[in-house]
Amino acid sequence: MPSISFEFFPPKTDDQRAQLDRAAQALKAHRPEYASVTFGAGGSTLSYTGDTVARLHTQHGLNVAPHLSCMGGTRAEIAALLDGCAAGATYYVCGPEAMMAEARSAHAARRQASVAPSAQPVQIRKAGVALDVIVPAGATILDAGLAAGVRLELSCAMGGCGACAVKLTAGEVAMDEPNCLGADERARGTILACVARPLTPCTVEAP
Ligand code: FES
Repeated sequence: MPSISFEFFPPKTDDQRAQLDRAAQALKAHRPEYASVTFGAGGSTLSYTGDTVARLHTQHGLNVAPHLSCMGGTRAEIAALLDGCAAGATYYVCGPEAMMAEARSAHAARRQASVAPSAQPVQIRKAGVALDVIVPAGATILDAGLAAGVRLELSCAMGGCGACAVKLTAGEVAMDEPNCLGADERARGTILACVARPLTPCTVEAP
């Protein structure tokens, strides 16, 4: 089934913000999978884009994908925008091949740095039984669960098939990206145990 998304330009005045609210309210009726927010090619909307993303998400309940350009902002400002993205967010890169390779490399380095430096406790609930496991720093919930004897489903073990999907009911994880999860699944709290590394103490429900 085709999915629908809408793209918004960041408003800069109160009148424009009111107009955005009216448009978002009307367009929600079409049940978009997500909304995207543009970003001036020269970085002219550096702060407005983040504000608009937060507004569409918190006030209108939309999944939101901000555009992000590396122009017009300092390294710290761009990092702050990325830090504001949800754990498990999907990133798409476009541009000349060499630039995309640089962006992927920088993103991988950030993701590695974001992995919790210490082991995290994770409670795995399955068939009415709760088991507490310690996930070593950098390890996945799947690896730790299997090592503890939990019968977790798996197939590809690399984020491509969805066999290891579990529901995150508490805590925060970082997942290797890209993976096969769709926006709807992410919104429901689904994570892939084979590529999910806990950033905080977590609780997950396994099927
Ligand atoms: S086992 Fe295939 S996505 Fe985890």
